[in-house]
Amino acid sequence: MTTHSITLAHWLALHTETALASVLLDLAHASTEIAGLIRGGALTGALGSLDNVNVQGETQKRLDVLANDICKRHLAANPAIAAIASEEEDNAIVFARPDAAYLVAFDPLDGSSNIDVNVTVGTIFSILPAPATTIDDTAFLQSGHRQVAAGYVVYGPQICLLLALPGQVVQFTADPASGEFLLTHDRLSIPAGARVISANVSNQSRWPPDLAATIQQWLDSGDYNMRWVGSMVADIHRILHQGGVFLYPTQSDRPQGKLRLLYECNPIGFIIENAQGSAADTLQTTPTSLHQRVGFIAGDQEAVTTLSDHST
Ligand code: AHG
Ligand code: MN
Ligand code: MN
Ligand code: MN
Repeated sequence: MTTHSITLAHWLALHTETALASVLLDLAHASTEIAGLIRGGALTGALGSLDNVNVQGETQKRLDVLANDICKRHLAANPAIAAIASEEEDNAIVFARPDAAYLVAFDPLDGSSNIDVNVTVGTIFSILPAPATTIDDTAFLQSGHRQVAAGYVVYGPQICLLLALPGQVVQFTADPASGEFLLTHDRLSIPAGARVISANVSNQSRWPPDLAATIQQWLDSGDYNMRWVGSMVADIHRILHQGGVFLYPTQSDRPQGKLRLLYECNPIGFIIENAQGSAADTLQTTPTSLHQRVGFIAGDQEAVTTLSDHST
């Protein structure tokens, strides 16, 4: 049977236990609804900004809220989920389910600045084991290597679902006719040695000086190309397929960094490391709060090692 006829549900039934499969299928179904809103753009009323500011201090986009509501609706109905945490929610949403096995942390719409200009955006998710203790915000403060699974959906010209389990990263592509996610890549591994930098270099003057100097040397060498979409999922998707290194370092005016550990850097780091790349020490970091921001460097092993050695 060619891989293209293996559905997400079929693959999950073969590779994951039932409750985890149900959580991942719910996330896939939520992403299919979100994809429909994105595809219709102005026709679906999904564009533009709202008046309110989220817990991140960001002006929320209408699609941030719509995508968040869709994810909440699908996940809240699953008895295997003890609690969910979202970029768009101040605190975790806890369900009174003492036997539920999983926590889900998610970024419902990644790359919000790109929504209104028809550029690729995504949804990122991280699955953690639910602790036996009381479930509240602190239950999510587990380091990234404890993730059971992680992944993203990238809403681009193709709609792809990337899923990482310990030891493997697979990709499903939505069939345009049926919307069904079909297996198209059954073992993704980052090509080593690609000289592509993915960073917002308008921040370079505020990076740690040693890191800024290293990047400047690479740029001056003429050997490197630069790619920055502004949606982490899109930049990471390129790196998974073509190699390179992604960095959003700490800055003198943002000493914590910009990207969120729980539902951006940990899931993406888990994907990258299970595709034979490196996310430096991200997955060893013990989170201190739900919306904690960190500096983040991930991708090609050798490039990450070089940059991490220069990022203090
Ligand atoms: P989000 O839209 O979920 O808030 O995340 C945006 C993040 C990430 O997707 C992207 O890599 C980064 O912000 C872009 O930051 P700049 O706009 O500062 O380049
Ligand atoms: Mn994001
Ligand atoms: Mn977001
Ligand atoms: Mn945001």
